[in-house]
Amino acid sequence: MLLRKAIVSVRHVRCVRGLSSRASNILGALDIPNSYEIPGVYDGRWKGSGETLESVCPTTGEVLARVRSATPDELREALEKSKDAHIILRKVPAPIRGEILRQIREALAAKSDVLGALVSLEMGKIKTEGVGEVQEFVDICDYAVGLSRMMNGRVVASERPGHTILEVPNPLGVVGVLTAFNFPVAVYGWNFSLSFAAGNANVWKPSPSTPLCSIAVTKIIAQVLEKNGIPGAASALVSGGKDVGEALVGSPDIPLVSFTGSEAVGRVVGKAVQSRFGKTILELGGNNASIVMPDADLSMAVPAVFFGAVGTAGQRCTSTRRLYLHRDIASRFLDALQKLYALLRVGDPLVEGTLLGPLHTRAAVGTYAEAVRQLREHGARILTGGQIYEQVELRQGNFVQPTIAIPKHVDPADAIWSTETFAPILNVAIFDELEQAIAWNNGVPQGLSSSLWTQNMRNIGKWIGPEGSDTGIVNVGTSGAEIGAAFGGNKSTGWGRESGGDAWKQYVRWSACTINFSDAAPLAQGVDFST
Ligand code: UN1
Repeated sequence: MLLRKAIVSVRHVRCVRGLSSRASNILGALDIPNSYEIPGVYDGRWKGSGETLESVCPTTGEVLARVRSATPDELREALEKSKDAHIILRKVPAPIRGEILRQIREALAAKSDVLGALVSLEMGKIKTEGVGEVQEFVDICDYAVGLSRMMNGRVVASERPGHTILEVPNPLGVVGVLTAFNFPVAVYGWNFSLSFAAGNANVWKPSPSTPLCSIAVTKIIAQVLEKNGIPGAASALVSGGKDVGEALVGSPDIPLVSFTGSEAVGRVVGKAVQSRFGKTILELGGNNASIVMPDADLSMAVPAVFFGAVGTAGQRCTSTRRLYLHRDIASRFLDALQKLYALLRVGDPLVEGTLLGPLHTRAAVGTYAEAVRQLREHGARILTGGQIYEQVELRQGNFVQPTIAIPKHVDPADAIWSTETFAPILNVAIFDELEQAIAWNNGVPQGLSSSLWTQNMRNIGKWIGPEGSDTGIVNVGTSGAEIGAAFGGNKSTGWGRESGGDAWKQYVRWSACTINFSDAAPLAQGVDFST
């Protein structure tokens, strides 16, 4: 008996991680096992015997979990299961798929606080933003529930008597969704909700550094699917690194690949999918500008730019990286902005009141330091920041000081202005005419989002029209994006659109169906082929 007890306790030591209570409370509440290694593949069954991914807390350096990724065989199997799931799903009426999405929405909302905390724990953004991200998934579910009754085709007038033309949307099959670390919940939500409403099965490859968020979300979705008799592989998960990503992108079984990530990887993904005539939705770099006119309400503009540049520690695709100030308000604006920077509360993103959490990885700290070095080397004036935090309580995490810099040159083609650095660095330039600021705004390769601060209607008209901003998201007096409008950017951001607007139309295959109800079969365009 004694011996048995000893064996049990040795096993216990080997199989259970000694996690901090900060982490184990969150993981426990989301049903994430406390075992030494966690399966990171789901296709109706949890598995994973490929290489191990480590989830590391960016705040403390604690290893939160080791996650087993997909082997090539497991990936193939998941794909087969997803194809089977699609065959079932495509016969389920869209409003019933909507009802399942409504249940997923409820299940997510019930866990929103703890799931938001997991985002904060694993990714590093502050908790209110983590919860906000879950809210985006909840919101897009609501949207997709409505959409499930409105994915309308069209009836087109035919030139031939007794003929009718229908434009009919049908599901595509299996959609591959590759997401980035910075929005480890919402971006899958945007894709999954629309794609599922449209009748597709989905295979999700999350960022290798945020596997726990994807496991928690998949568990929530899987429970609802199973309860409704839908195979779990309608929302399959294949954790993994580059190999898994490449295999998904190259698979002829995946007609649509939705990829969020860097421009460099997006270029490879775009070419690979195009070479097999697949469809893509690409959400790549953002290098976003805010322009402040002299008539702007600075009591609104200053805090908005502060959030745009410092929120999520500068790791949103929509983060403000360039600030163009009209000469008349420039020094007033910068004084007020620096006052806000000085008030920043830095630290554990799970602690209420913290505004600045860590960068996601150690490597990102290196990228930040290199960008600051480049700025200094090229003669930029650093108004604030520019250092890695060295305080003892921050040293375990990837904390860097938000930086405001005035580069020496204002040419948008210059690498300092044209490179997206995923860190809280804000470069500032001063202009005299709106046209100049718009030219700078448009002068970089990326085209995700931009914002103009003015109260003048003529400025707004110019900004949103053909002579205005060339980005996908063109704001006036605000920042960021809601799920109702299509989210995405132009130029090297990849031209993709997700979430609201007409984005759902990409998740279906369209058929033009001409139907002849008459007792004659005339050819179109009056062609005569009679013998
Ligand atoms: C992203 O940065 O990849 O508007 C997504 C925003 C968020 C979504 C950002 N609603 O910043």
